[in-house]
Amino acid sequence: VRRLFSAASLLLALAAGGCAPKAAAPQWADFGGDPRRGEVLIVRAGCGSCHVIPGVQSADGLVGPPLTHFSQRTMVAGLLPNTPQGLVNWLRHPQAIVPGNGMPDVGLSDAEARDIAAYLYTIR
Ligand code: HEC
Repeated sequence: VRRLFSAASLLLALAAGGCAPKAAAPQWADFGGDPRRGEVLIVRAGCGSCHVIPGVQSADGLVGPPLTHFSQRTMVAGLLPNTPQGLVNWLRHPQAIVPGNGMPDVGLSDAEARDIAAYLYTIR
């Protein structure tokens, strides 16, 4: 069921996204995430062992792409539109979206993924 849901949301996200020009950076209040909680969750989930994440102490990993200028990106993982929902889908289900890629599913709830997304959108 979870895989089906993910595939469906991926298709929706792709249909909605395309190659749209730079989207305005979403504000965290628009989708119910809290960037301060997100920062705590990023540290707890160990995202920084694989990513450079501006503003997060010791987040200097080089396994995945650096998350610099994240609010200005148009795509997530070169595949999903960089919208709050696209980002939340990626954060929750990276293995369903790109099977075998280097980012593990870390078991985030929807609320946790929203908080983390809110933090990532504070990165200019
Ligand atoms: C074991 C290493 C690893 C961990 C832990 C990890 N990631 Fe990733 N992440 C990756 C890799 C590798 C990619 C590239 C995947 C791809 O493009 O197919 C990626 C991609 C991403 C992207 C898309 C980046 C872009 O340039 O579009 C985001 C956002 C992201 N990760 C956030 C996180 C967050 C937040 C966490 C913690 C919850 C996390 N990652 C944990 C390895 C990791």
